[in-house]
Amino acid sequence: MCGIVGYTGCKSAKDILIEGLRRLEYRGYDSAGIALQNEGALTCVRRVGKVAGLAQAVEHLDNPGTCGIGHTRWATHGVPSERNAHPHCSCDGNIALVHNGIIENYAELREELIGRGHVFKSETDTEVIAHLVEEAYKGDLLAAVRTACARLVGTYGLAVVCAQEPGHIVVTRRDSPIVLAHGDEGSFVASDIIAVIEASRDVIVLGDEQYAVMTPEGIDCFDAEGAPIDPEIMHVDWDVDVAEKGGYPDFMLKEIHEQPRVVRNTLAGRMTDKGLHIDEFNLSLEELNLIDRVYVIACGTSYHAGLIAKQLIEGWARIPTEVEVASEFRYRNPIITPSTLVVAVSQSGETADTLAAIRDARIKGARVFGITNVVGSPVARESDGVIYTKANKEIAVASTKSFLGQVVSLTLLAMLLAQSKGKLTVGQIRILFRELADTAEQIERILQDTTSIDQAAMACKDATSALFIGRGVGSAICYEGALKLKEISYLHAEAYPAGEMKHGPIALLQKGFPVIAVATQSPVYDKVISNIQESKTRGAMVIAIATEGDEEIAHIADYVIYIPKVRDCFSPITATVPLQLFARSIAIARGCNVDQPRNLAKSVTVE
Ligand code: G6P
Repeated sequence: MCGIVGYTGCKSAKDILIEGLRRLEYRGYDSAGIALQNEGALTCVRRVGKVAGLAQAVEHLDNPGTCGIGHTRWATHGVPSERNAHPHCSCDGNIALVHNGIIENYAELREELIGRGHVFKSETDTEVIAHLVEEAYKGDLLAAVRTACARLVGTYGLAVVCAQEPGHIVVTRRDSPIVLAHGDEGSFVASDIIAVIEASRDVIVLGDEQYAVMTPEGIDCFDAEGAPIDPEIMHVDWDVDVAEKGGYPDFMLKEIHEQPRVVRNTLAGRMTDKGLHIDEFNLSLEELNLIDRVYVIACGTSYHAGLIAKQLIEGWARIPTEVEVASEFRYRNPIITPSTLVVAVSQSGETADTLAAIRDARIKGARVFGITNVVGSPVARESDGVIYTKANKEIAVASTKSFLGQVVSLTLLAMLLAQSKGKLTVGQIRILFRELADTAEQIERILQDTTSIDQAAMACKDATSALFIGRGVGSAICYEGALKLKEISYLHAEAYPAGEMKHGPIALLQKGFPVIAVATQSPVYDKVISNIQESKTRGAMVIAIATEGDEEIAHIADYVIYIPKVRDCFSPITATVPLQLFARSIAIARGCNVDQPRNLAKSVTVE
């Protein structure tokens, strides 16, 4: 959720922190702040709203400091306000810190600290840490942070500075991501690789309850007891320009256009002479054969990728598959045995509920396989095996290219299970794989001309509600189409399997009500056409996503968006693209910020 940055080196800390926060803004954007350390004092500036507001506020700040910390916030405890924005400081103003996570025992700590004379200035859970560090500080910031952390229940990524320790930043974490890097210009810390990548491609991934002391000269790491350790180093091969819009008006459009590359990169090197091969799936053939039940667990858009996977795994591998939102899965008692495969899907690899579900499933004996976009993320680290979606960093909060990467990865997984169970021959898989690879080019064709998508979007831009209908994999795509529309345009949208229309949603229909129907060629095409007819009869304005060459549908629907012909099982990959563009077009027409929708954050690291 929130984003943390820190820098100590030879350059102006202010500029580096603002740039880092700009890169992390997808994690939260209701307020932001920085603390600069200079000549034995700390200067703290905080603003409500986006990082741009903070940047303006510090533009003429006369502080040549070369060490500081920064934060961009997604509020949990305490409304978005300057008072609640980070950094938070100790009573004497000598300690400042930024925090990502939730301190669950903050209320009792606060009461205890107030009892000892501490004065609180915010309603946040974070502020207790500043006061605990202040109490524990006896000239050694690392020791003080360790003492304070021993009192905390909950999750944290923390960066702390002290006026008396020039050039030093102490960092630690528990269940919240922290990466560090040292380069020619100094030492950097952030909650995401994207804010440290320019310093070095070799980043330190701090482990849970480990500590780091950053100075301009280097980074020293310590375990929970304070003993020096050699940290885990991870090499990152992301493009550095990932944080730039590259000529596109927004990140969402840029990322939609990157999708053909995501498909190609995710498939690269997977098909060998002996069949499909996924190195990272480190289960033996015997173990694979034992799998008799699959659970796909995920949240948000990733959950929708799971809905598609269910159809493919059951259809090809004939293994019963359930898809469940992680926040439900973790609080019930699912039937899990050692022959259960749990597939955790998470773009960020740090969603709190998905992580908790993984841990629960492992305790119950399941094999856990992760599908994530972030190398070294908690989901990757805590799974038995992992497929990386090779989508490169996704910045827009509403997921597009990561979703496609997930669908392609899950399709590979379904093929692999079918191959190992002997349900598909290598020859059959080779044909499917070729067609799957062809979707990259088909997406490029969709992206070449978006006129029909924009026209349909203009017809819907003033609607107050919309319904997405489809059948089979088409209904799974509808859930994603409706989510995309509501999250970025604030237009209420719902998705229904088309056959369910008559059991309720049809009551909503009246003249001009937008119904978006996924009606690509499939065994259930005729059924979807009947449902479209039923909608038209009740006055709905129908926008159909249809297969090129289907002339019949043009007589029924008000708007038709044609996409290239693909095998039904691969239609989620192509049909999703016009739905993403449709949502974006409506959102832009309604004046919305498509990259940073209100109230949302890209990684949800709290329950
Ligand atoms: C948030 C994001 C969504 C994302 C969901 C799950 O709600 O705004 O775009 O689908 O989290 O995130 P994950 O990183 O686990 O895929």
